[in-house]
Amino acid sequence: MRVVSGIQPTGNLHLGNYLGAIRNWVRMQDEMEEGSECLFFLADLHALSQPHDPAGLRAATLEMAAALVACGIDPDRSVLFNQAQVPAHAELQWLLNGTARMGWLNRMTQWKDKAGKNREGQSVALFTYPVLQAADVLLYQATHVPVGEDQKQHLELARDIAQKFNNDFCTEDAPVFTLPEPIIPGEAARIMSLRDGTAKMSKSDPSEMSRINLVDDADTIMQKVKKAKTDPEPLPSEVAGLDGRPEAANLVGIFAALAGQEPAAVLAQFGGQGFGAFKPALGELLVETLGPIGARFRQLKEDAEALDAILARGAAKARERGVPTLNAAYRALGLVRH
Ligand code: TYM
Repeated sequence: MRVVSGIQPTGNLHLGNYLGAIRNWVRMQDEMEEGSECLFFLADLHALSQPHDPAGLRAATLEMAAALVACGIDPDRSVLFNQAQVPAHAELQWLLNGTARMGWLNRMTQWKDKAGKNREGQSVALFTYPVLQAADVLLYQATHVPVGEDQKQHLELARDIAQKFNNDFCTEDAPVFTLPEPIIPGEAARIMSLRDGTAKMSKSDPSEMSRINLVDDADTIMQKVKKAKTDPEPLPSEVAGLDGRPEAANLVGIFAALAGQEPAAVLAQFGGQGFGAFKPALGELLVETLGPIGARFRQLKEDAEALDAILARGAAKARERGVPTLNAAYRALGLVRH
């Protein structure tokens, strides 16, 4: 088993990232068996697909590394690194560009959402970004990729690219790439904005009140939950009663994911009660979970030297893991290298 996943080091780690992906990363790391391995990386090359601030990228990269360690990623057990220190990601992307089809990329909903009507004005990187994401996992022969629901389509594309490459350039008994399986959490696959239950919680939402960041202090968390958009009805007693109530469904889903319960169990406790009773309970649960992570994060992020060392060590390991597959891909394509 080889687990691989990444996160963009832009903005703060938020509750959607944590419940949708990072918590699963930590679980998978903790359950790893002998001979299996997890690789987790900061997708800094992906940050170039959107306008970004070069001066802030280094700090954002180190902060995201600190946040992952604070969440429980152990750099001694998992390989923790950033893409830019492992050139094989970009190299393999170029090799895969010959296999990926324009039509496949055109169908990516994230591309359609982010580009909107102004496709001509977007960077090429925003369009080809899913090919880099495919390279990220195929480079390491990933078998399992823990992600939130929004990344499922990108993982399907990675499978399509791997399959076409294997078909076109490899013999049946010696495929270059493994087809990766996405691992998507049930309850927390899609955490929505606190201001709009139909939009996903995201780093790019201009409203700070739309998301809970892992670094928020207790007062901020309580305040954000208190101000979260709701409807005037009390909570229903059954899950079906959440239909057509996206904000209520989202808050119940967050509670369930944090408490390790089914939404039905949450409603058995809070059904019939108003948000005036539910929100403080949810806020407390959030503070209880995120408080220790935030405290550890604040401590870790002060030591840039230690974080640099963690990333350099992780990158050396990642380079080692990736080289055989990269070489095999070059060979399969007939490229002369020496
Ligand atoms: P990114 O940085 O947007 O998000 C990191 C992880 O958090 C999950 N996530 C969510 N889950 C539930 N609800 C939400 N509101 C929510 N918002 C984010 C994402 O699904 C993701 O798992 N392209 C990726 C990074 C990436 C990657 C990869 C992931 C680059 N290469 C290879 C896996 C494998 C991204 O932008 O995620």
